[in-house]
Amino acid sequence: MGVPILGVGLQFNPSLMDWFPFLDQPLDVLEILFDGMMAPLDGPGLMLPTMVDTMHEVAARFPLVGHSNYGGDFGFDALGSTPAVRRHVPLARAFGVPWVSNHCFYSDASWCDVWSSPLQFTRDEADRLAARARALQELYGVPLAHENAAYYRTCPGSDMQEEDFLARLVERAGTYLHLDLHNLYANAQNHGAVGYSIARFLDTIPLDRVTCIHMAGGRWLDNQYHDLHDTPVVEPVWDLLDDVLSRTRPGAVILEYETDALHRCDGVLDIPRSVDAILADLERARSAWDQAYGPGSRQTTCQEAA
Ligand SMILES: [Fe+2]
Repeated sequence: MGVPILGVGLQFNPSLMDWFPFLDQPLDVLEILFDGMMAPLDGPGLMLPTMVDTMHEVAARFPLVGHSNYGGDFGFDALGSTPAVRRHVPLARAFGVPWVSNHCFYSDASWCDVWSSPLQFTRDEADRLAARARALQELYGVPLAHENAAYYRTCPGSDMQEEDFLARLVERAGTYLHLDLHNLYANAQNHGAVGYSIARFLDTIPLDRVTCIHMAGGRWLDNQYHDLHDTPVVEPVWDLLDDVLSRTRPGAVILEYETDALHRCDGVLDIPRSVDAILADLERARSAWDQAYGPGSRQTTCQEAA
């Protein structure tokens, strides 16, 4: 399976929908979140009625890609009973997304309080999850890419490095990777003292199977670095982007924000300044992409180049 080369875009996060002018931006791609638009499992609908008009509006405006957080993809419930199969797969087909990414943590039908429950990095677990991932990708009918997570503690019982686990998972499943560079940075802050290495991670995973890159920011709170998505993209993550773009060619770079007020070293920004900060990050990401792949290499510029 191949992925289209789209360019630079944003995640369509519910936290931004009321104030960020998505429709005014020349985005190459918009990443939609299945969890935030899907209808309840005990109802007859596929999509929340309140989201239908909005989703059709953005679908008419931008190329879309799909993202799943709480599908139960890697949990222990029967795959056919999960939100991933019952809601996310039909949503992906309805919107015709060219790939789907899912998050590497455990979740079940309750889908609450599971944000940083990392997978157990063992061979047996990689093999169990590979079987689920392969089956799920077949249902999607498009590449399924697994996003490396930020986590506070390693899952008990883990006996291999995360990057070796991910390499084994995609090799066994025939699936892909979704590389979140801020999650790498966050893990290096929190686990660097016990040997976490971004360089080793990037040297180990199959970079040619990276479909998409996430960029974000976060903050230190109570001696822990958090992947809060409530600041502009942090500086070291820009350096990682240049490095990765020089080594592979993903289909998209997506910026993630999840707040109605971005934090910066000079304080909490109001909405106009938060908009400006996001637009500045977008411009910087486009520059990095164009530097790596040349002008006319993104969805919004390839027609001009032709
Ligand atoms: Fe992410």
